[in-house]
Amino acid sequence: MSDSNPHLPKAHQSLSARLLVLTVAFVMLAELFIYTPSVARFRKSYLEERIVRAHLATLAIENMPEQATDDKLGKTLLMTTDTYAIALRQNDRRILIAGGEMPPRVDAVYDLRMNSFWGWIEDAFMTLTQQENRILRIVGETPKRPGVQVEIYMDEAPMRDEMLAFSHRIFQLSLAISLFTAGLLYISLMLMFVRPMRRITAGMERFRRAPEDETRIFKPSDRPDEIGIAQRELAVMQHELRLALRQKDRLAMLGAAVTKVNHDLRNSLATAMLIGDRLAASDDPDVQRLVPRMFRAMDRAVNLCGQTLDYASATMPTLNAKRNRLTEIVHMAGETLTQEHPDGGGKPFQWRNEVPDEICLMADAAQMLRVFENLGRNAREAGASSVRVTATEDADALIVEVIDDGPGMPEQATEHLFQPFAGSAREGGTGLGLVIAREVIHAHGGEIALAATGAEGTTFRLRLTPA
Ligand SMILES: Nc1ncnc2c1ncn2[C@@H]1O[C@H](COP(=O)(O)OP(=O)(O)OP(=O)(O)O)[C@@H](O)[C@H]1O
Ligand SMILES: [Mg+2]
Repeated sequence: MSDSNPHLPKAHQSLSARLLVLTVAFVMLAELFIYTPSVARFRKSYLEERIVRAHLATLAIENMPEQATDDKLGKTLLMTTDTYAIALRQNDRRILIAGGEMPPRVDAVYDLRMNSFWGWIEDAFMTLTQQENRILRIVGETPKRPGVQVEIYMDEAPMRDEMLAFSHRIFQLSLAISLFTAGLLYISLMLMFVRPMRRITAGMERFRRAPEDETRIFKPSDRPDEIGIAQRELAVMQHELRLALRQKDRLAMLGAAVTKVNHDLRNSLATAMLIGDRLAASDDPDVQRLVPRMFRAMDRAVNLCGQTLDYASATMPTLNAKRNRLTEIVHMAGETLTQEHPDGGGKPFQWRNEVPDEICLMADAAQMLRVFENLGRNAREAGASSVRVTATEDADALIVEVIDDGPGMPEQATEHLFQPFAGSAREGGTGLGLVIAREVIHAHGGEIALAATGAEGTTFRLRLTPA
């Protein structure tokens, strides 16, 4: 895969590059935590070693009487231990070896018997940050002979130089470790994560270009991890999508066929209507009785063709969602329904809008209107004399109920609820009203369900998102 692929992020934006930088930063941070105590430890050992060396040097003259200490020996000892002076104290015995050039001042005193972790760290950083050489007086006990207190006077600068050299080594080592770790991480991430992700993206793209092509369905690996699961889910999704597309294609073809049938049927019906008109002129009472029934049957046939055609050819229009007051939509549906004349004539029909005025929702009002009209019309056609619409709202849902006092849904209808063409149990019904209602509600991110049905009536419940 080339880097010019528009679906690949730029090199510095890629996951692996970001992780590379993060790893280097984190390892360096971790190294800082290791470095701080170790540089303090380094300084402590340095000073302890000086004390031990100074003590060893004094052993040479320890047993001589103080006045016999010869000056030349003293100077040599001070030179080999890099100190200005050494003092030894044991009980009441005291030995002092001091060269001619005793330092004029002491800038700082450190006692190695101090037992504080943070104290050592602080002292180490004091040393590292010094610009000038300081003269230090170091007091300590030699491990060789407990109870003997040794004091030395020394320059700080050489110790600081060694500490800086130590820091430098640690820094280089840390950098090497972090680059090495980051490199390994980069490679494993590339192999385990980024490459499979790219493969998934490429698979999606390939499929998008020609979803009807079976061979383009993603071939998942059998990895047990999250990537493997994503791959398998993708394959399943593509498979199902392909089936759905094929189904849609079939419906579209059906739509085309229906259009043709519809056209021919209309012509036949037009001819039949002409003949019907001629027949209506007849004086025969039997003919007079039958002709209106024939016209009604033909009307229904035309209607059926029209509705089927609508459904087969219509793709779901894009929603034009606005903030609407629910009560207004319900009211409009009621107006339409009470003005329409139900099949078979003027049975009383009452539409009771019980939706509180303040309830609003984000919806395409024209589409929502169809939902309430379809539900209301079904109730009326089933023989209900009144339909109530209620709504309650809480923080995350708006529940709307359409409750009628009709005879309940027939078994045929409940068994094939929301299935196109299959759910109709009504003469002249297409079985599309509920299907369309559900499509609209789904497009709005809601749900519709049959909440109750029985001899005392039927209730459909809608769950919508409040605005
Ligand atoms: N409120 C109701 N009370 C009783 N039966 C109902 C009710 N609503 C729907 N039905 C039943 O469910 C069936 C399916 O309804 P649907 O609206 O989907 O199709 P239809 O009304 O038959 O045809 P159309 O496409 O013209 O609406 C109806 O035929 C009817 O038998
Ligand atoms: Mg209907």
